[in-house]
Amino acid sequence: MNVVAQIVGGQHADILLRQKSGEDLELGELLVAENGSAKILLQVFDLLYGSQIQPEALQWASGLQLEDVSKSGFMEEQLRNYVLAKVKAVAHVKNGVAVTPKTLPRFFSSLRRLENEDLAFLENPEKPLYAGNVRCGSRCLDKAVFLDGTQVLPTHVLVAAGTGKGKSNLVKCLLYRLLDSNYCGVLVLDPHNEYADALRSHPHAGKQLVSYSPKPGRGGITLRINYKSLKPWHFSGIVSFTEAQNETIWTYYKEFKNDWLTEILAEDISEKLQPRFERRALKEETLRVLQRKLELALRNSVFSTEGGKTTVADIAHALDDGKVVVIDTSGVSSDTELLIGSILANDVFEKAKQGPGKLKSIVIEEAPRVLREGSSNVFSSIAREGRKFSVGLIAITQLASLIPREVLANMNTKIILGNEMRAEREAIIGSAAQDLSDDSKTIAGLDKGEAIISSVYTKFALPVQFPKFEDVAKKAAGTQKRFT
Ligand SMILES: Nc1ncnc2c1ncn2[C@@H]1O[C@H](COP(=O)(O)OP(=O)(O)O)[C@@H](O)[C@H]1O
Ligand SMILES: [Mg+2]
Repeated sequence: MNVVAQIVGGQHADILLRQKSGEDLELGELLVAENGSAKILLQVFDLLYGSQIQPEALQWASGLQLEDVSKSGFMEEQLRNYVLAKVKAVAHVKNGVAVTPKTLPRFFSSLRRLENEDLAFLENPEKPLYAGNVRCGSRCLDKAVFLDGTQVLPTHVLVAAGTGKGKSNLVKCLLYRLLDSNYCGVLVLDPHNEYADALRSHPHAGKQLVSYSPKPGRGGITLRINYKSLKPWHFSGIVSFTEAQNETIWTYYKEFKNDWLTEILAEDISEKLQPRFERRALKEETLRVLQRKLELALRNSVFSTEGGKTTVADIAHALDDGKVVVIDTSGVSSDTELLIGSILANDVFEKAKQGPGKLKSIVIEEAPRVLREGSSNVFSSIAREGRKFSVGLIAITQLASLIPREVLANMNTKIILGNEMRAEREAIIGSAAQDLSDDSKTIAGLDKGEAIISSVYTKFALPVQFPKFEDVAKKAAGTQKRFT
């Protein structure tokens, strides 16, 4: 056994190790203490110096060295000065099953680094959701982590990180591997137009991937949504209307049904029509402002009075077949993106409520736009009760702190990448499935692609590394070639 440290003291969640000289332990690293056939997995959460020598003597010795007075290694350096690591026990593995550790590893136990074989207890679920490779500090093991997609996806996934830490890269990897199977229909709202082209390199993309865009490239479909597909409730929590404006909308909806929007926009506000307004108890000024607001929200090439009649139904179909449907909204405003998202998400959610169907998941970037305190829209409804109907969110954000606590707590799986902002780390840690209160420093120090997965469905907060997407795609293409 290649010993890297030894237990020298501490308590259950705060065990003290002495690091062997020459072995550099890292924050977040997993170590193993063997105890007969059982193993205890321990995770490093802090590193500090230890010394047998009084501080004053150390300072004096440092002075001698710095000033080059003495070059003699006067105090058996490796023996008397060392690094201490604080670790916590995260899993007790016995007979191939991991449970929460309730006992301490033996005092003075020797520890080694984690190896692939130590993770044999990680399951290989039937409906896998790829969640990176196991990471040990900054060392990436050749062991992919698969969570059970049927558990994880309907109970929401939060992908949280500072900007540039690899959120989009991670979601690309995750979606790419989802294209291998068709157990879940995934709707991706893509405001930066970064997913469709990337995913198109997948060998199954031809039948498993559908992409819509106002300006479609190779393999894409033109995104057009007919006015008749828009319902008053699609706007709720997306475009804000006054009470009077809302009443006006509903008056038109009751009278004209699917033509409500066309009728409002076509209304010629002039003296001649006064009797009609009076009959409907409508105010001219309200209608005027409402027309302006609606025109603004619909002022782009996506919404159409003529085309796009089957778009919403076509997308629903594709999702029911377990496809990944990417909607490029890079050319439209954030409000329009959310309106498009709201139309499609409403459709998914309403159909799911009518009866059991295929599992669905909706990917939304900058999720606090729709999951803020007080927001009442289809996304917040899905966050609260989507699990009952097998509809989940994959919510991506830099600002988890803006998402209400109860919604955060409802997201059963959190993929936590690096984050320099303390308030953001605290919001995530405060709502994680495991106690991560000691891991703030570790999270602050995570590099691109390095993540911690904290989930109700994992035995402990699992350190993982997501590869660079281009490498995943290249590797898959290579494998494909070998088999064909
Ligand atoms: N795991 C990774 N390994 C290597 N490079 C990465 C990794 N994740 C992201 N990157 C690179 O970092 C940059 C930012 O990644 P991105 O996923 O767009 O970040 P975010 O969405 O969090 O802003 C991209 O150039 C991407 O290729
Ligand atoms: Mg991004």
